[in-house]
Amino acid sequence: MNSLDDFANITLRDEPLAPLTWLKVGGPAQRMIQPRSVDELVAVVRTCHENSVTVHVLGGGSNLLVRDEGVSGVVIRLSDPVFSQVSIEGTRLRAGAGAMLSHVISESVKGGLAGLDTLVGIPGTIAGAIKGNAGGRSGEIGEHLHSVTVVTAQGEKFIRQGDELVFEYRRSSINELCVVEAEFELTQDNPDDIAERMRKLWVMKKSTQPLSFQSAGCVFKNPRGLSAGALIEQAGLKGMKIGQCEVSDRHGNFIVTEPGAKSADVLKLIDLMRTKVSEAHGVDLELELQVW
Ligand code: EPU
Repeated sequence: MNSLDDFANITLRDEPLAPLTWLKVGGPAQRMIQPRSVDELVAVVRTCHENSVTVHVLGGGSNLLVRDEGVSGVVIRLSDPVFSQVSIEGTRLRAGAGAMLSHVISESVKGGLAGLDTLVGIPGTIAGAIKGNAGGRSGEIGEHLHSVTVVTAQGEKFIRQGDELVFEYRRSSINELCVVEAEFELTQDNPDDIAERMRKLWVMKKSTQPLSFQSAGCVFKNPRGLSAGALIEQAGLKGMKIGQCEVSDRHGNFIVTEPGAKSADVLKLIDLMRTKVSEAHGVDLELELQVW
């Protein structure tokens, strides 16, 4: 049986995770492993599976809260450039899982391809965006996905496409451990027109969201037909502070953190928001943010 020690040269022990997340809080990863190829990724995952070691896969850290005690087992990070290649052929765009969504959007626009531009302003990697069907009122990533290469928790690699890809609001049918690569089907358009549409969307987002602060985007999913941000505002929580964490006074569904913030305080604030919204509106908010 293989051992995790076989990967010592690509392993960091007790590696701080806070700097790799947008909220900048939380403890370290017991082992962070950064594979250099898809084969190496598969070998790491198989070894974890054989040894019953828990695996988490880190994306851009923009929708993630790490607890103060950190994460035991293995955190895989696809930081090697091999996982962030982007290429275009006709109207097909292929992107590695670790490519930042913002980079992929700008490559698509340069290539005169429309579709992903509606996602302007969304942080994170392609893999994270696909798994959670990232999007907003202007569109969602799943609408443009043609196929995706995944690695299962047992270390098997395969491609999913067609009716195996089902997307709903902030959910996808892709429940395997890890996305490795994605292919999008886009439409030809004039790069200047796409850029102009993006500029308008970006201005609108910037005026309603605290984009220049430390945050992880929306904390809760919108309950059907409602806006979590509005419910939180109506419950009187905007500006509410616990430690160095605060409910944004710009958008009620954002928590912003300041240096010195603790993950435990973010969790307390989340609890408070849930409780107050439930008391005021009788609505149970569901977390969008992932908690490790
Ligand atoms: N509103 C308030 N108070 C607030 C926030 C919003 O009254 O504090 C009201 C707004 O005035 C508006 C309505 O609620 O009438 C909806 O607000 P907004 O347009 O900001 O959209 P949202 O539903 O709060 C969603 C996504 C965002 C995405 C935007 C724009 C969710 C949970 N949020 O926000 O996604 O950027 O639409 O497309 O679906 C994210 O998922 O992390 C995220 C930021």
